Amino acid sequence: MYGTSILHLTTLKDWSEADVLRTVERSIDIKRNPRHYSAALSGKTLALLFQKTSTRTRCAGEIGMTQLGGHALYLDWRNTNFGLADLGDEVRVLSSYADFIVARLMQHDDVLRAAEASTAPIMNGCCNRYHPLQGLTDLMTVHEALGRLEGVRLTYVGVLNNVANSLIAAGLKTGMHVTCICPEVNPAARDEALYSEASAAGLYEYGEEAEQLQDVLAQSDVVYTDTWIDMEFFTDPAFAEEKERRIALFQPFQINADLVQNLDLKILHCLPAHHGYEITGDMLHDPRSLIFTQAENRLHSQKAVLLQLANAPE
Ligand code: CP
Ligand code: NVA
Repeated sequence: MYGTSILHLTTLKDWSEADVLRTVERSIDIKRNPRHYSAALSGKTLALLFQKTSTRTRCAGEIGMTQLGGHALYLDWRNTNFGLADLGDEVRVLSSYADFIVARLMQHDDVLRAAEASTAPIMNGCCNRYHPLQGLTDLMTVHEALGRLEGVRLTYVGVLNNVANSLIAAGLKTGMHVTCICPEVNPAARDEALYSEASAAGLYEYGEEAEQLQDVLAQSDVVYTDTWIDMEFFTDPAFAEEKERRIALFQPFQINADLVQNLDLKILHCLPAHHGYEITGDMLHDPRSLIFTQAENRLHSQKAVLLQLANAPE
């Protein structure tokens, strides 16, 4: 078996608390002192392999690598021979050229297969179950805004999905409490072992009713939402009926001015946002919104992840 001793980032669950906290601290330092890191990955290459679309994950990876003195290479799955061949074979070859790989694959099992075959660290760029690069950015953004993670109360509203799972895992590593008010769990994302572990640690609660929102949000430091429909299904005609069902079901869970009226909390969204669905457009520009800072932080955080995986010196 190849690469078994390599630190990958397939899910935050596999990272130690120290890895998570060091990455958050370093991401904040990178934002403050970018020039200090301008040659940190000189001569190294990051390959970015995408089965799905992306703005932030791709651009933060490519631009971040340039800013660290390295080089990045974007691979659209459809223009490679990944679709024709064994995933393990192709990843093994790619990892013999590249020093790091970001893989945005549909299925988490494929992310695991890629990590098993790779001789270079694999970062999960958002699969059906987890989005760890987003979770680390979210920790950075909360820490930057509130000065702490332990004891912070974050409420995630909408569908319990890949992003919510990574927030729960991020909370478990740092002492941040996550409440999910979600009428449904995305079937492919359900991770009962994670929910049980976080719940046993006193860091996770779950509710399904929109009527709970006011009370829960009154106790929250942060409210977070994400799309009701993952990107690969959003324009899929086969998903059209399910999309309409979800829009009707989730409407009472929309983040809007009425919901957060008079509440002293920060508003987060991983983006892309679907205005008028999970969030109204005005909320992105609300004084309490950190959404565009959070998006910018993808760049700083993704650079910190690369340095953590490279075991780069301080
Ligand atoms: N938040 C996020 O991962 O954005 P992209 O899908 O644009 O990469
Ligand atoms: N849950 C979203 C995350 C987007 C970054 C999706 O999978 O499309």
